[in-house]
Amino acid sequence: MKILVIGSGGREHALAWKIKQSPIVREIYCAPGNAGIAALAEIVPISANDIDGILEFAKKKSIDLTVVGPEQPLTDGIVDLFEAHGLKIFGPSKLAAELEGSKVFAKQFMRKHHIPTAEFRSFSAAERFDAERYVNEIPVPIVIKADGLAAGKGVSICDTKEQALEALDQMFAKKIFGDAGTNIVIEEFLAGEEASVFALTDGKEFVVLSSAQDHKRILDGDRGKNTGGMGAYAPAPIVTEEILQKVKRDIIRQTLLGMAKDGRPYKGCLYVGLMITETGPKVIEFNCRFGDPETQVVLPLLDEDLVRIMFEAASGKLSTTKAILKDTSSVCVVIASGGYPGNYETDKQIFGLEAAASEKDVVVFHAGTKYNKDIIVTSGGRVLGVTAIGEQLNLERTIDKAYRAVEKITFDGAYYRSDIGKKGVDRLKQ
Ligand code: AMP
Ligand code: GLY
Repeated sequence: MKILVIGSGGREHALAWKIKQSPIVREIYCAPGNAGIAALAEIVPISANDIDGILEFAKKKSIDLTVVGPEQPLTDGIVDLFEAHGLKIFGPSKLAAELEGSKVFAKQFMRKHHIPTAEFRSFSAAERFDAERYVNEIPVPIVIKADGLAAGKGVSICDTKEQALEALDQMFAKKIFGDAGTNIVIEEFLAGEEASVFALTDGKEFVVLSSAQDHKRILDGDRGKNTGGMGAYAPAPIVTEEILQKVKRDIIRQTLLGMAKDGRPYKGCLYVGLMITETGPKVIEFNCRFGDPETQVVLPLLDEDLVRIMFEAASGKLSTTKAILKDTSSVCVVIASGGYPGNYETDKQIFGLEAAASEKDVVVFHAGTKYNKDIIVTSGGRVLGVTAIGEQLNLERTIDKAYRAVEKITFDGAYYRSDIGKKGVDRLKQ
């Protein structure tokens, strides 16, 4: 088979790495890729958002399966376009991708289909007065979310009413998220610990991959600014077998049934972002794609041919309902450019990549890297995802292994968190 992967981050490197292990794959292409992906796939210089350009390429090369990493091409309708041309593609249609593309849609959908989530109301810019009144009626903290895609920045957690009114002003009047903030959701704050679960689905049946936990804040102890994710580990002990059963039955199954019933059958990877509260798991957000950096820890634990699962899902006939997972843990530590998620410099030469990757059961996934002649340099905020796979279910040892590899890598300004996985270790000790 010929596979085309779309995207250029650590998630896409992990996808290409897993795809490469499939016995049915002959060639892998990646648009636009990065310096790490170039070792596994032929790099295609087409932007992930140029869906017409990607279609033309896929037709020319007779690609057998296209796998979409980021959300933008999905919410733009790449799946509909490919299917209209008779091409196989793994991902949801434009209508189904609205589960991520519109928070108002996702919340109303969850209410309609009794899927556990935070209480909420939605408002348009024309209803600003009502939104302000609502803010004054409900207890703090208050969560305010822009409806549309806002590169992970569209959520404000407000500890005071003043902050909430200010957030409304920024979205409605100052339009800091542009059209994405024309409609908003105001919701109840959920206390608990977060975790992610991915379901690969053909629209009816699904398999779940290992649970995982991301670390969104830039500083140790979950302090500082929000980022795209500074590291992850899997499985997440907070997601017990009992909680996972609830997630499958009350959230994933209900979502797939509801989407089919509403004429938006959901195929592809459904990312369920959860808050594990005292009253059970509740949905914080849906994403219409694999998560980043969770994919870097979840795929190494899958003991099956990912390509077969994705091909069957894309064809609407998944043949399994239970994925075989390795009985071990994995940990990914992200090394970022100094200054990220604010301003940072790029084009810094990266040293130690080979030494780190030569450690047993360590894979260095590239996120923001590129070639400058024949040396690899930084090209983004999140630069690398150093991932260790355990020999057994001993999270502490897997964390140590990941950090031993991280310490072998240097570049000017390199920064990483030193507590990835600690929450999991603490929970296992309870
Ligand atoms: P999102 O951009 O939707 O991933 O949200 C960013 C982060 O905001 C999430 O990862 C949570 O940590 C937090 N968050 C979102 N909604 C809520 C909520 N209702 N209660 C508590 N935290 C939330
Ligand atoms: N890890 C968060 C995301 O992929 O959206």
